[in-house]
Amino acid sequence: MNMIRARIAGTGSATPEMILNNADLEAIVDTSDDWIIKRTGIRERRIALKGRNETTLNLATSASLKALEMAKIGADALDMIVVGTVSQDMHFPSVACFVQDALNAKKAAAFDVSAGCTGFLYALSVASNAIATGTCRSALVIGVERLSAMTNWEDRTTCVLFGDGAGAVVLTSSQDDGILASALGADGTCWELLYSPNGSPNVPEILKDTYRKPFFIKMDGNRLFKKAIISMADISSEVLEKSGVSPSDIRLVVPHQANFRIIQALAERLSIPMEKVYVNIHKYGNTSSASIPIALDEAAREGLLGPGDIVLLTAFGAGLTWGASVIRWSF
Ligand code: COA
Repeated sequence: MNMIRARIAGTGSATPEMILNNADLEAIVDTSDDWIIKRTGIRERRIALKGRNETTLNLATSASLKALEMAKIGADALDMIVVGTVSQDMHFPSVACFVQDALNAKKAAAFDVSAGCTGFLYALSVASNAIATGTCRSALVIGVERLSAMTNWEDRTTCVLFGDGAGAVVLTSSQDDGILASALGADGTCWELLYSPNGSPNVPEILKDTYRKPFFIKMDGNRLFKKAIISMADISSEVLEKSGVSPSDIRLVVPHQANFRIIQALAERLSIPMEKVYVNIHKYGNTSSASIPIALDEAAREGLLGPGDIVLLTAFGAGLTWGASVIRWSF
């Protein structure tokens, strides 16, 4: 008897219009285009503005509408909406409930998952398990972040890294293709490597129209860098073994886009050539939970994926958390 699996039936993404490039940042903190490109691979990032009404909800909704259109299903067919985010518009209710209202997805259960930059993969795992066990037949999984609202624009070690955006996938059930295996991990003892304490930093003139939260980001970049490579490499190997797939079978790796050097080191550890690794960090920086679904959507729309292709997703983030999924692509 074939197993029921969740398959990705559509992808979508949405990013704010404002581009903040490295030259703009040179005018804000003591940094340089050269340093940022060499140490991170980032050339520019998108920033959500109040004047453009680029709320977390609106970014999430636009990405979702594109994913539903690609999947050719109506929002009224959705049984579940799960959103990975740490930068919701309101403390509660969840972004997922606002999206449910915006899409008029009347029969969908809706909730958010907080797992730092691994939020999308945690959400994907929850929703795909719900489909595999028959709890629901179709789901919308979103990764959305507006970290500019908690960026400390006086801290050059973090403000150059992050950007805003949203990505979404529609899951339906399948008997053959789809999510072959997922694995998740966490280590709360390392929470101090990346967290969000209280603070109200100054905002430079060019960013006065951004949304603000009463807390910002603190990070120990060096220690995180090493943990990121090890945790993503280990969990990727675990999930590949679980799904009976060898690294040479992989068509495309879509990793969390935190630092180009982390991505390169991960590929090396997994013995996967960089030609098979999707990278768009130069355009968006680290969009946290949104980075994998944005990259997956771009890869799908660029025609890089076809039926039967094996895709590896892997991420790490605050918590610490990490995760990976192996997918047999179906369209
Ligand atoms: N511009 C210019 N110089 C900078 C800088 C910036 N934006 N940020 C830091 N520096 C300086 C440091 O002050 C340090 O100077 P010093 O040698 O005089 O003390 C020097 O550059 C090297 O700093 P270091 O922190 O060792 O650089 P790095 O190569 O580790 O790169 C990160 C820093 C943050 C880019 C890197 O550690 C990283 O990407 N870590 C992982 C972060 C991450 O993924 N976070 C999100 C998790 S989801």
